[in-house]
Amino acid sequence: MARPPRSGGPAARSESRAVDLALAELERRYGLGRSLAAPGWVRERVLAILTGVAARLGVSPLAAAEQLPEDKRALEEIVGALRVGETRFYRDPIIWEAIISTVLPKLPPDLPIAGLSAGCSTGEEAYTLGMILASAGRRFSVLGVDRSTAAVEAAREAVYSAEAAEQLPPALVQRYCELKGGALHVCQKLRDVVSFEVCDLVHAVPSGGFQIIFFKNVLLYLAESAGDAVARRLAAELGPGGLLFSAASEAPRLCGAGLTPVRVNAQVTAFRAPGT
Ligand SMILES: C[S@@+](CC[C@H](N)C(=O)[O-])C[C@H]1O[C@@H](n2cnc3c(N)ncnc32)[C@H](O)[C@@H]1O
Repeated sequence: MARPPRSGGPAARSESRAVDLALAELERRYGLGRSLAAPGWVRERVLAILTGVAARLGVSPLAAAEQLPEDKRALEEIVGALRVGETRFYRDPIIWEAIISTVLPKLPPDLPIAGLSAGCSTGEEAYTLGMILASAGRRFSVLGVDRSTAAVEAAREAVYSAEAAEQLPPALVQRYCELKGGALHVCQKLRDVVSFEVCDLVHAVPSGGFQIIFFKNVLLYLAESAGDAVARRLAAELGPGGLLFSAASEAPRLCGAGLTPVRVNAQVTAFRAPGT
């Protein structure tokens, strides 16, 4: 029976080197942060995929890792396996409440609002923004973008588990969702104004004079320079009076990237472009 490599032995060192090489290539190509490499599950998942690729190619995992720059299929497989898509409707209610009570009243009533969910995962954030804007009686459009094709396809489907209804205020469920066949469906009139596109923010950000950008829980997966550049490029796409919202834990990084913090209320800080 094959014995697993002894930790610290030559085989384990070779595997560890293979994982390091793969992580370096992921950072170079996709801006993926090395901090992502800290949890053991990341290294295990990378090694599992490299082992599969190695078996397919008839080489060692280290050789497979060395060939990664030319093996887009394997790279995409690893990126997909490392994606953290956790999201939910009405996540961080204090932000939504601040938008309703403080942000929207300051935007001219006849101004059509353009919203962006940058790193939208399966769409809950973009649809929540749509529900909030529709409830406020605003004309609007919301765009959600994500690097993951599977996530964008799910967002376009707009079908969620029935339990997702518990995350939303009941009035929003009643107005914008239908519960049928044991699932929550976002209604068509909202789907008509919330659209989704596949987009890797490290390579391009949507252009558009946005009044509200959500760039939440994405930065932590990006390496410092790649993440800072994305944040600055997104902020540059804000229209007059526009604000970028992040998770509270990401605020120090956005300040470090040069974005200007804006106190929305006692609990919520948003951001504007550097120097504005
Ligand atoms: C944890 S989810 C956050 C979802 C949502 N923003 C929220 O806060 O609930 C992170 C999402 O960011 C996406 N993502 C990570 N890096 C990206 C990039 N470079 N371009 C576009 N999307 C990215 C991932 O695919 C994932 O769906």
